[in-house]
Amino acid sequence: MKEDLIIAIDGYSSTGKSSMSKIIAKNLGFTHIDSGAMYRAVTLYAFQENYINNQKIDTNSLIEHLHDIKIEFKKDETTQKNNTYLNGQNVETEIRAMQISKMVSPISEIPAVRDYCVALQQKMGEKGGIVMDGRDIGTTVFPNADFKIFVTASPEVRAKRRFLEYQQQGKDIPMDEVLKNVNERDYIDSHRAYSPLRKADDAIEVDNSNMDLQQTVDRVMQIIQSK
Ligand code: DC
Repeated sequence: MKEDLIIAIDGYSSTGKSSMSKIIAKNLGFTHIDSGAMYRAVTLYAFQENYINNQKIDTNSLIEHLHDIKIEFKKDETTQKNNTYLNGQNVETEIRAMQISKMVSPISEIPAVRDYCVALQQKMGEKGGIVMDGRDIGTTVFPNADFKIFVTASPEVRAKRRFLEYQQQGKDIPMDEVLKNVNERDYIDSHRAYSPLRKADDAIEVDNSNMDLQQTVDRVMQIIQSK
């Protein structure tokens, strides 16, 4: 296996893309990059700076200050997990909150935000040896990626996974609210004008509605190793 491969894993929210990408990267000795975490960090920044009020985004101020946003990933040596840092602060937990999930799709629709995050993703992945998960990795960020996987699952299955994750974190968010957020994000992510979520023509689709995490990892590893 070449060491400088680029593996793009795109798909809908809550399909387990990040979890599977983490394991696949570990199996291959590669670095995992969670591109969604970058859009989430930009959203958190917009909240911190009061560029989001009553669900309204002050797009001009956010664009003007995009270059004040420093996003990094650092490995926690104890847990071996990558954490997202926003301007020097570990925001890994904060960026997963429902408040962020509700605003991240409209924030990631802004072309300047996309350009900013895509440039960062291309820089982080330029040497290869990466597994990057997101929505447009195989179409826009790395159109020449060595492997492109597109992960799908039914909205109900995905909402149930997210609901259980929230429950494990002690957060009691009603199932219908979680399903509504999944459907809304699917719609915005796949209908935005600029770099929408879509399967690249040469991507291999994996529907994991009836698979658990390990089965999905096995399927993707099989695809990678069979080439
Ligand atoms: O993967 P995630 O659910 O954490 O991503 C959060 C949001 O970020 C998602 O709803 C859309 C946006 N996103 C994107 O537009 N492009 C990417 N490559 C990754 C995420």
